[in-house]
Amino acid sequence: MKILFVGDVVGSPGREMVKEYVPRLKEKYRPDVTVINGENAAGGRGITEKIYRQLLDVGAHVITLGNHAWDNKEIFEFIDDAKYLVRPANFPEGTPGVGMQFVKVNGIEVAVINLQGRTFMPALNDPFVVADRLVTVAKERTPIIFVDFHAEATSEKQAMGWYLDGKVSAVIGTHTHVQTADNRILPNGTAYLTDVGMTGPYDEILGMERTAVIRKFLTSLPVRFEVPKEGRRQLSACLIHVDDKTGKATQINRILINDDHPFISE
Ligand SMILES: [Fe+2]
Ligand SMILES: [Fe+2]
Repeated sequence: MKILFVGDVVGSPGREMVKEYVPRLKEKYRPDVTVINGENAAGGRGITEKIYRQLLDVGAHVITLGNHAWDNKEIFEFIDDAKYLVRPANFPEGTPGVGMQFVKVNGIEVAVINLQGRTFMPALNDPFVVADRLVTVAKERTPIIFVDFHAEATSEKQAMGWYLDGKVSAVIGTHTHVQTADNRILPNGTAYLTDVGMTGPYDEILGMERTAVIRKFLTSLPVRFEVPKEGRRQLSACLIHVDDKTGKATQINRILINDDHPFISE
């Protein structure tokens, strides 16, 4: 079975790229399950119910989040009823939402887990301990387990990949918004990629209007970052092949669509 994972969708440019290319990617690669990280989908900050539904309508089975999960207050109104939404599982006890969801497609069940790193990020529960706990629960139902590890430090992401090698099907990094070139299958069968990259503006800085970001570096003054509506765009994703029976990954390919890496339909 194949899993398509699309990295951090940033604002309306990201949503438009998803609308335009996810159907074409599905046509080309025929994934069984599609997962999209939507933590920046609403103007770069959080997600709304309407956008959550739009991402499902375009073909996502599960939406993952990250450190921006709560940036749009609307989430508190729908997260309890959102069956296909996961926020980092290592948020404090009592936090709304869940960190793992199961989807069943063509008779095959897949567990989708979202975790957040702690290095250069807010202090949360230990993502390694929480991963262990969730993997044990997931294994009762399915060997196919997908992990979106939303983290800043490459070392922490690599550590999670090696820690979960052989226990899950894939550990794919999000949050740093730039796709890394280290896609590989670890020795015990876990697909790994430090960061899948983001989906949104192509000529800005991590998806935010670049002159504001540069001004921030130059002045250290408070600056409001916005997602520009115009301009060139990109989509970042990866495709993972998993053995249905064992849950082990057999292949992982990076997908990058922008003017420098145009989409080829065949
Ligand atoms: Fe992000
Ligand atoms: Fe993030």
